[in-house]
Amino acid sequence: MPASGSDPIRILAVDDSVTIRETLALLIEAQPDMELVGSAASGHEAVRRAGELQPDIVLMDIHMPDLDGIQATWLVSSRAPHGAVIMVTSEERIDFLQKAMSAGAQGYVLKPFGNGAQLFQTIREVHGRSSARRMQVAGGAPLDSRLRPRIGKRIVVLSPKGGVGSTTIAVSLALLLREHAQNAVALFDADFLAGDTTLQLDLRPERTVLDLVPHIDALDARLIDQVMAHHRNGLQVLARPTNPEQAEVLTAEYVRTVLGSLAQMYDEVVIDTVLTYDDRMLAVLDLADLYVITVTPHLGTLRSARHFLHIAKTLGYPADRMQFVLNRASHLAGLSTDDIATLLGTHDILHVPTGGPEVTQSVNEGRPLVLYQPKSPVARALQTLATKVRQRVAS
Ligand SMILES: Nc1ncnc2c1ncn2[C@@H]1O[C@H](COP(=O)(O)OP(=O)(O)O)[C@@H](O)[C@H]1O
Ligand SMILES: [Mg+2]
Repeated sequence: MPASGSDPIRILAVDDSVTIRETLALLIEAQPDMELVGSAASGHEAVRRAGELQPDIVLMDIHMPDLDGIQATWLVSSRAPHGAVIMVTSEERIDFLQKAMSAGAQGYVLKPFGNGAQLFQTIREVHGRSSARRMQVAGGAPLDSRLRPRIGKRIVVLSPKGGVGSTTIAVSLALLLREHAQNAVALFDADFLAGDTTLQLDLRPERTVLDLVPHIDALDARLIDQVMAHHRNGLQVLARPTNPEQAEVLTAEYVRTVLGSLAQMYDEVVIDTVLTYDDRMLAVLDLADLYVITVTPHLGTLRSARHFLHIAKTLGYPADRMQFVLNRASHLAGLSTDDIATLLGTHDILHVPTGGPEVTQSVNEGRPLVLYQPKSPVARALQTLATKVRQRVAS
């Protein structure tokens, strides 16, 4: 039993070396305020065990054969949201540690552990910080009481690579969802560094998602309404920070809160984003009702999409929540539809044809094709997509 009488710190140890796992077990078991609840020998096992055990602390090796510790950290933070990750490394490589920190790690310790003094101190500090933060969050006034509990559908439009037409698809989808039944629809530009949803809609927003930061503990419908940019078709857009360097203040917790609030105000929330594999991105992915994944008929893009599917599976996102869109599908460039279906693991892929220069012109002028040339082949395919998305999120 812990000396203080409070619950021991529950620890999961992850390392592919059995010697290190045994050393950690011996050291931790001798501490009255700590308990080793499990261990894992690989990145994938770490993610699974973290989900089952919900540890307070995960001690994570950086180099493992299947999934490196940085990716595993990112995945663990979604499976065990209250667990804090501490990296365990034999070299103080600053580049690794920076990556680990941006994936959500809260600290690091160096191998070998000696008598364990540094290890124990880091565990206690990190655990102290994360429980303090948790109590702060729990103490805040519940958001639901001040916003209408609408619980709109969250549709994440993502692409494994830039330039495949993902934003064009997100913008068109949001506009079409809005036109249908005049639903309340929001478009959230979660490509925080380079998003161009407002350009594509010819909007010049006075406010952005950054303006919500000071009010994050007390968001209400009025505040959110004030920062949204209004498109004339009724679509409302939450713009990204004007300067990419300002995006740093947008933490995963913050993104989660904003998305939660948007879903309480709108029937459908379309989120435009690019895959980055950091904890902010994960916050977006975790809350999605449907993933619209844009690819083009290029092997590189398709391979990246496959990698995403692999990660999505590890995270437990159901395969039936994926909707693939093959954009610029008029020329398959040596690939067959069967090749593409095999790579993506499904034949249910919606094709959007390759348009002429009018597509880029419409994007550059902020005059979306679906509104200005609704009979063009590209716009028609996007209408089919919107119908399909509506049906899928309704069921
Ligand atoms: N089906 C298409 N046919 C022709 N051009 C397209 C098509 N889809 C998108 N584009 C063009 O590709 C460019 C990149 O689109 P964008 O939506 O910004 O991509 P992403 O968000 O994936 O980076 C834009 O100039 C857009 O007009
Ligand atoms: Mg984009």
